[in-house]
Amino acid sequence: MRHKYYEPAMVSGRSTGGKIPLGLKRKGLRIVVTGGAGFVGSHLVDRLISRGDSVIVVDNFFTGRKENVMHHFKNPRFEMIRHDVVEPLLLEVDQIYHLACPASPVHYKHNPVKTIKTNVVGTLNMLGLAKRVGARFLLTSTSEVYGDPLQHPQVETYWGNVNPIGNSFLHAPFAPFFLYFFFFFFLVC
Ligand SMILES: NC(=O)c1ccc[n+]([C@@H]2O[C@H](COP(=O)([O-])OP(=O)(O)OC[C@H]3O[C@@H](n4cnc5c(N)ncnc54)[C@H](O)[C@@H]3O)[C@@H](O)[C@H]2O)c1
Repeated sequence: MRHKYYEPAMVSGRSTGGKIPLGLKRKGLRIVVTGGAGFVGSHLVDRLISRGDSVIVVDNFFTGRKENVMHHFKNPRFEMIRHDVVEPLLLEVDQIYHLACPASPVHYKHNPVKTIKTNVVGTLNMLGLAKRVGARFLLTSTSEVYGDPLQHPQVETYWGNVNPIGNSFLHAPFAPFFLYFFFFFFLVC
C-alpha cells in the first residue's frame, strides 16, 4: 500500500504555522555510510535504519561483507552500492558517515599505496560530495593517531608519540591531515 505524504503546514487542511503537529514523526534523513558493510559501519547502519532514516551503503567489500547488511535488503529505506571511494560519486544526501578504510594491520598493510589513496583521495571525494550537496560529515579515525601513547587515557592536549616510519603510519597519522582537509574544504575552497 502506498502512503501519502502530508506537508506539515497542511495537515488536516489547516495551517499549522510551520510547526510540526504532535503525533507526526520527523521525516527521516538520507544518509550515506561509506564502509557500511564493515564491522563498525554495519552496526551503525542497523541503528540508523531502526531510527527511521534512509541509508545508502557505499562499499568496495575489501574487508566488509554483504552478509553484514543483507538483513536490510528488502527494506525500501536501504540501498547498497559497490563502489570504491577513491573514485568520485554523486548522491543527494543529508549526512555522510565516512568509515571506508581497512582498519586492521593485516589489511591496511596489504597494499600500502591503496590504503593511502583510500584515506586521502577517498576522504577528499567524500568531503567534495558533502560540500556540493550541503551534507553534514562525520569521519572515523583510530587511536593509532597517538602512536604508542605515553599517556593514557589521552586528553585533547596530548599530541601523541608517532613513529613516522612505522607500520601504523599508513593508517593512523592521516587523521591530522583530515582536519586540514575539513578546514581547507569548507573555509578555503
Ligand atoms: N573496529 C574498531 O574497534 C575501531 C576502533 C576505532 C576506530 N575505528 C575506525 O572505524 C573505521 C571502520 O573500522 P572497522 O573496524 O569497521 O573496519 P572494517 O574493515 O570492518 O570496515 C571498513 C569497511 O570499509 C570498506 N572499504 C575499505 N576500503 C574501501 C574503499 N576504498 N572504498 C569503499 N569501501 C572501502 C571495507 O570493505 C569495509 O566494509 C576505520 O576508519 C577504523 O579506523 C575502528
